[in-house]
Amino acid sequence: MILGVFDSGLGGLTVLREIIKNNTYDKIIYFGDTARLPYGDKDRETLLAYAREDVEFLIDKGAQEIVIACGTVSSNVLDDLKKEYSLPLIGIIDVLAKEAMAKTVNHRIGVIATPATVRTAVFTRKITGNDVYEAGCQKFTPLIEKDMIGSAEMDEAIAEYLEPLKKADIDTLIMGCTHYPLLEDKIRKCLDKPVNIVSSGTILAKELNIGEAREAELEFYVSGDPNDFIRKARRFLDVKEIEEVKKI
Ligand code: DGL
Repeated sequence: MILGVFDSGLGGLTVLREIIKNNTYDKIIYFGDTARLPYGDKDRETLLAYAREDVEFLIDKGAQEIVIACGTVSSNVLDDLKKEYSLPLIGIIDVLAKEAMAKTVNHRIGVIATPATVRTAVFTRKITGNDVYEAGCQKFTPLIEKDMIGSAEMDEAIAEYLEPLKKADIDTLIMGCTHYPLLEDKIRKCLDKPVNIVSSGTILAKELNIGEAREAELEFYVSGDPNDFIRKARRFLDVKEIEEVKKI
């Protein structure tokens, strides 16, 4: 079975790195649409047009199942895509909502996601019986993609976006964008108390990897600069796993 995984850029690697830990696929093809990121400030029509191209690219490369490792596409257009394509398309929203509901004790759940995801209010709609506090984090993805995780700007942005969630006394935080697990250590430090952090990679990996684990054959494609992608991506995946990235 060949799995396709796509995101606007590096974020989907936080999902891929979990899937490959116990990989059961013959091959995994990753596509990062780095020439057109961020997706998180785009309107629905643009996201649908981009997502169709991403899905069709992966189908052309042989994908038989696709993980949409992008909260923005999953929240805005997954239902439209499911009507148009017959292969299994797996988004990240439902698994995150379900896991957060299972983890929370005080029923106060925070969500950090892109503005385009927060616009859909998808988590507030899906997480019933709990108070949900959603924060649109415009600055995170561009700073991560510019290799600025360690910058003062990033620390300031984290403090700004988490402040209302801390005030709301959340005990569970959903990483509604796949880029954000790359900030997990910094986010934990900024929160005043231990909070359950819910990320899609680990949950999806458990659901997808059914069968005997084997080494994954990996193929990487980006729409932007492959050397730039490989340099940044190697920090999040082992070097041996990401040997070559092709530009489309
Ligand atoms: N990583 C994506 C998401 O999960 C997209 C971030 C962006 O490009 O703005 O939403």
